[in-house]
Amino acid sequence: MRKKVTVVGAGFVGSTCAHWIAAKQLADVVLIDIFEGVAKGKALDLSQAGPVEGYDVSITGSSDYAEAANSDVVILTSGAPRKPGMTREDLVAVNADITAQNIEAIKATSPNAFLIVVSNPMDTMTTLAHKLSGFPKERVMGQGGVLDAARYRTFIAHEIGCSVEDVHAMLMGGHGDEMVPLPRFTTVSGIPVTEFISPERLQEIVDRTKQGGAEIVKLLEKGSAYYAPSAATVAMVESILLDKKRVMPVAALCEGEYGVSGIYFGVPVVLGAGGIEKILELPLTAEEQDNVNRSSALVKASCAALPVKYGVI
Ligand code: LAC
Repeated sequence: MRKKVTVVGAGFVGSTCAHWIAAKQLADVVLIDIFEGVAKGKALDLSQAGPVEGYDVSITGSSDYAEAANSDVVILTSGAPRKPGMTREDLVAVNADITAQNIEAIKATSPNAFLIVVSNPMDTMTTLAHKLSGFPKERVMGQGGVLDAARYRTFIAHEIGCSVEDVHAMLMGGHGDEMVPLPRFTTVSGIPVTEFISPERLQEIVDRTKQGGAEIVKLLEKGSAYYAPSAATVAMVESILLDKKRVMPVAALCEGEYGVSGIYFGVPVVLGAGGIEKILELPLTAEEQDNVNRSSALVKASCAALPVKYGVI
């Protein structure tokens, strides 16, 4: 039997996740949205691309979680997106309520699923989802780091004039303006990136990466990025379902790693059939650790801004 992935939210991020999952034939897909027609319409449209593209997975849409029962993975994308000038943090209150309602339904229908949270502010929503679901920490995670690293890798490849495939990079921290790209752990086919790009230019690339989401929000004027966010999410789904054990930056529950406790925060992990199988602890320089501290302080503050009805995190 095929695996089953439910994507909550049939907006641009959700439906594009469904698209990548189908194209890779990773699993049957259920799109859930409060606007049932949108979920059904997009599912039908994607199904009808199957004969052309040659995929056989089933893609259905519904506003009823019964359709999503016993999913192997649930991707949470629903929530208000940013408008130009807004930070991800401006979305805390409204998206917390949406996340809480969905978690209730996921708990009831897919109690054994892996949960990947994409809704913003992502680290905060993942922390909330973990708390409200009661799922083990290995099965709850947030997507942000794979996207941020992909942006960083793209800019570096364009700068050098090499394949994006050969640029490998690790970054850490919250999926926000204080994310922490790590040039010391960035290579081009194993060659340190500093052999190709000056420290000053690299800093400009790091700064552009930090603003990578906002750059697209500004260009689109309505809505935010979705191709790269959903590709990044599906890379995580693939690593779990195929037990690839990829090493990726993922928002994981930190319990002392990197001096961070009690929140979901972007760290290098091994992602496989057990979910977050391991958090890798890299030796950081004092400056890198300072940057991590600044980023974790922001995520903590965002979690502290969650509505009190969800309890203190
Ligand atoms: C971004 C939003 C989706 O980074 O967080 O594009």
